Amino acid sequence: MWSISKQSRQMALEHSQLQSLILQRTSEVQNLSVRLLKVQDEERRRLSRDLHDSTGQTLAALKIAVSVLEQSCSADVSKMAIVSEVSDLADQAIEEIRTMSYLLHPPLLDEVGFACAAEWYVEGFTKRSGMSVRFDIAKEQQRSPISMETTLFRVLQESLTNVHRHSGATQVGVCYRHDPAKIVLEVQDNGHGMSEEGLARFRAGGGIGVGLAGMRERLRDLNGDLQIDSDCRGTTIRATFAKEGFIADGVLGVNASAARFCAQEVAPL
Ligand SMILES: Nc1ncnc2c1ncn2[C@@H]1O[C@H](COP(=O)(O)OP(=O)(O)OP(=O)(O)O)[C@@H](O)[C@H]1O
Ligand SMILES: [Mg+2]
Repeated sequence: MWSISKQSRQMALEHSQLQSLILQRTSEVQNLSVRLLKVQDEERRRLSRDLHDSTGQTLAALKIAVSVLEQSCSADVSKMAIVSEVSDLADQAIEEIRTMSYLLHPPLLDEVGFACAAEWYVEGFTKRSGMSVRFDIAKEQQRSPISMETTLFRVLQESLTNVHRHSGATQVGVCYRHDPAKIVLEVQDNGHGMSEEGLARFRAGGGIGVGLAGMRERLRDLNGDLQIDSDCRGTTIRATFAKEGFIADGVLGVNASAARFCAQEVAPL
């Protein structure tokens, strides 16, 4: 009798040790995935700058040289046709590099904030996808911390990409609003919705692809929240930050201006 109770005490101890080990490992994996997302953001920012400053400038120089060539062979019709074609190709390459660079990290995001970058992105998405996007984006009175703005932008990009790839929707709505207590970004489509299994897996804390799981990790890292509502009439992705209590750049935020102050003291992501 005595030995059975000793055995069960031993088992309970081992069980609780295992549980705390699982919690510790889960938190390590979460920290690692957040670090990876930050590294990915830094990499995108660097690539965006390199494409703009290096390949973009080389193409701009090429374009100038071709213009000089165009002037010098204006009398020769057949040469002129070839040079014009080269000029058009240079224009196309400049445009492609510019779009790629801006999609990797839009300069508007750093310069004027999420609302302007979001409008620019939604306009481009409408042209590229041919989908109709209704948007209602509130201009901020104050800038939010850069890590929060970057997260909102990545949520917008991933949600719209998902709508285009998976939803079969004909219409999308993007709504960004500031309530007194919170900041909310919603992307809503009228597609066929997510599978029940996929939704259940997401709600249980798992992921299907990298996109939704990455969004959730980004938000969790800043004390934000990601919710999905989905049925056969469509899907809504909702990212929410409380105006008080979010964590910006490793610091607990009190209000937007205080968090901005904190954000300026550390290097941006
Ligand atoms: N708006 C949507 N409408 C319908 N299904 C969706 C929508 N968004 C996501 N899904 C479903 O949820 C799944 C998971 O999305 P998630 O973004 O995590 O991965 P993914 O898009 O498949 O791949 P990736 O890792 O490249 O993002 C998708 O494969 C799709 O089945
Ligand atoms: Mg995706």
